[in-house]
Amino acid sequence: MSTQQWWNHAVGYEAYIRSFADGNGDGVGDFVGMLDKLDHLAWLGIDILWITPFYVSPMRDWGYDVADYAAIDPTYGTLDDFDAVIDKAHRLNIRVLIDIVPNHTSDQHRWFQAALAEPESKYRDYYVWADAPEDGSLPNNWVGYFGGKTWTLDEASGQYYLHLFLPEQPDLNWRNPDVLDEFDDILRFWLDRGVDGFRIDVAQALVKDEQLRSNPQIGPSDDSMFRWEQWDAFDHQHDILQPESVDIFKRWNRIASEYGALLLGETYDLKMLDKLDRLVSGGDAIHVGFWFGAMHMDWDAGQIRSTFDFPLSQISAGLGWAQNSHDEHRSVTRFGGGDVGRRRALSLAVLLLGLPGLPFLYQGEELGLPSGELPPEAKLDPIGGDDPNAGRDGTRTPMPWAPGPGMGFTSPGVEPWLPFGGRTDADTAEVQRNEPTSTAHAYRELLAVRRSLTSIAGEDLTWIDSGDHVVAFRRGDIAFVANVSEVASAMPFDGDVLYRSDAGTGQTLLADEAAIVRVRT
Ligand code: NOJ
Repeated sequence: MSTQQWWNHAVGYEAYIRSFADGNGDGVGDFVGMLDKLDHLAWLGIDILWITPFYVSPMRDWGYDVADYAAIDPTYGTLDDFDAVIDKAHRLNIRVLIDIVPNHTSDQHRWFQAALAEPESKYRDYYVWADAPEDGSLPNNWVGYFGGKTWTLDEASGQYYLHLFLPEQPDLNWRNPDVLDEFDDILRFWLDRGVDGFRIDVAQALVKDEQLRSNPQIGPSDDSMFRWEQWDAFDHQHDILQPESVDIFKRWNRIASEYGALLLGETYDLKMLDKLDRLVSGGDAIHVGFWFGAMHMDWDAGQIRSTFDFPLSQISAGLGWAQNSHDEHRSVTRFGGGDVGRRRALSLAVLLLGLPGLPFLYQGEELGLPSGELPPEAKLDPIGGDDPNAGRDGTRTPMPWAPGPGMGFTSPGVEPWLPFGGRTDADTAEVQRNEPTSTAHAYRELLAVRRSLTSIAGEDLTWIDSGDHVVAFRRGDIAFVANVSEVASAMPFDGDVLYRSDAGTGQTLLADEAAIVRVRT
């Protein structure tokens, strides 16, 4: 990756549009609401805003089921409202990435409707079809990311179609050149409207094995198991990370380059790093690939080190880092909840902001929010099921902007699409911005200090020997250090403390405290 790219020293922020801010008082976030809140992102010191899907959608997977890639769902506003957000963001020096969903469409997309209604039309081959085996089995043994089988029968034709997610999200056939042409036009449509790049949904899975071969099974799997256990029961040789994906992203990269745009991949795989490497190394395909390890680790020095080291040692360029998203329980909750969870999440943010690559915050992370708590009947995620931990609703509850009815998210008296999930006045952006000792101010100061450290952008990471309690590394003369223990610990070096996440003094780090230090050499 060239050192000249605008995203090199940037910090990103994910806005889950449905829960970010509601401007028209219908209980659902939208562009008019977002327009009003961009100042908050500027106040925080954000460089890049990633907006989750806002396209026309039947909302079976809350927008990750797109029925028209070139139109805005009326719930979220109009193209004019979208343009206003882009314009204002740019005036605030914030670049905007939009979420493109190329692995699958909605089953209501006109391409899929035509594929069903007119099997002879060119649209049939836009999707992945397989004949029904004579023995009544499925075409292969692939399991879906949401658990369960990936094939649904089209009774009219007697063929199955593939879906790595819901049956209402049929997978596109990326071996069909027409699909590539369609997406070239879609990318250009939004680039011409001024977006600065794309977060690419399910970037690891676009191309499938040409013969749709079964994956080798390496453990027991059945539909009743937790979705990731089902997934991990197979060696994913044939459904994801096929080498031909690189060619697609090289083609996208050429388009993106014309506009100076960023391709940020949701490269969700924690195992096949050599294959992942091909997608992001070289800078001529996906520029930055998200690494999700920090969402799947405990608060433990060894685990934190290996979570960082594993991808850094095997992927030669372009990693994106995040501890939160709209898909996982919030890290404050995962790391113990309450003040402890909040302290740990902030310390982890210090480390993530020190790593080579592009760090992202998720809305509400800067407020130290835990996952919202919802009664089972309020849950709306299609993969929620009966398991209280399974669904993704808890991380998706509306942003608490201000105290009072509607919490500044929606109009007083209006029911938000998901309940707030137990937010208090102290959780709100308004209260925190007025309180210099708040979590929001701690993140703002962290981003400001990090922004000032331009020298680290060109420096590799060097680990510092720091024992079982402390994680520490340096980039040039700047060290990032966290005490991952319940007792105060000494920093393993001397230096000037530029930032600290808690109230330790001198070279002492309190329990769960992190710091950025200019090391004396
Ligand atoms: C990843 C997205 O982050 C998730 O929310 C969605 O359900 C799947 N991709 C399917 O598009």
